Amino acid sequence: MATILGIESTCDETAASVVLDGYDVRSNVVASQVELHEKYRGVVPEIASRAHIENILPVVREALHSAACGLATIDAIAVAHRPGLVGSLLIGVTAAKTLAWSLGKPLIGVDHVHAHLYSVKLETNQDPPMPAVGLVVSGGHTALYRVNSWSDVTLIGSTIDDAVGEAYDKVAAVLDLGYPGGPVIDKLAAEGEANIQFPRSLLGRESLDFSFSGLKTAVLYNVRGVPGRRHVTPPPPPPPPPDEKRLRDIAASFQAACVGTILEKLKRALRKTRGRSVIVGGGVSANQGLREALKTLPVPTFVPPMRYCTDNAAMSAGLAHVKYTAGQFSSLDLDAITYSEIARKG
Ligand code: KG4
Ligand code: ZN
Repeated sequence: MATILGIESTCDETAASVVLDGYDVRSNVVASQVELHEKYRGVVPEIASRAHIENILPVVREALHSAACGLATIDAIAVAHRPGLVGSLLIGVTAAKTLAWSLGKPLIGVDHVHAHLYSVKLETNQDPPMPAVGLVVSGGHTALYRVNSWSDVTLIGSTIDDAVGEAYDKVAAVLDLGYPGGPVIDKLAAEGEANIQFPRSLLGRESLDFSFSGLKTAVLYNVRGVPGRRHVTPPPPPPPPPDEKRLRDIAASFQAACVGTILEKLKRALRKTRGRSVIVGGGVSANQGLREALKTLPVPTFVPPMRYCTDNAAMSAGLAHVKYTAGQFSSLDLDAITYSEIARKG
């Protein structure tokens, strides 16, 4: 039996959660910063870190309060310390270290992306058949993994440019649909017809990597016209802004291209790893089109409940339980590790 307090501040959500035995979520508090970043149509790192400073203590207090548990009953403090925006990560890591040191409790650093995979275990306590193919699709990540166990996760493919959630957010900006773009495009797509053939970058027959920047540009050209035709005089006028019907069809066609690409990569990964199941996590795993498409795969698929798709601390507190049981604790010099450091050193 272990009660773990988890802390999350990798990007633009400040979150804290109390989880018992790796699955029993006693509280799950998330302070979203969407309103702060909305007008910039994306996350502004400096604004994010300042908001984390303001939110971290009230969020931790609220998580303890709503779990009806005092600090004395916490067995360990978990924190997502990689990967993320450095200014954001530092707030959660510093709060977790301070709590661990002052209370004399163990500190457990976890990988935020691995924690997204673990989110399928929350509440249900289900363990997918392994080895599994893991897919994390979010605003910052599009990555495929071979998951041998919750503590043995190997990267087998990732995006070479935009993350899929980032493509959703950028396409929403082109279509003037607000931020974040995923939920609104998902809703429009359900009402539209996928009648535009947008490109699907598969990057060669065997590749498990992803590319979404060509698709994003294709949507831009479809909406605003193709630039650079200077030899045509006079230059063709830009197309009229899409009406409601065309907007829904563009959303449906974009979503079909994203989901089709993801599904093909999952099939390839299943063949390559002989995976016995598929685990999907991250903000884009909330996508209804993707959830439907996953049902066509030949193995059981696991997606988290909607509240654990986007960033939260319950998934970190849950994954930390695996390390707690194995006695794998972090020292007080635990580092905040950014995306670029991981790309450089692995
Ligand atoms: O996991 P998350 O909260 O943050 C990161 O770690 O990046 O994911 C946020 C991303 C955003 O890009 C958002 O547009 C996308 O998840 N998203 C969706 C949906 N809900 C959120 N994308 C597609 N369909 C959705 N229903
Ligand atoms: Zn995330």
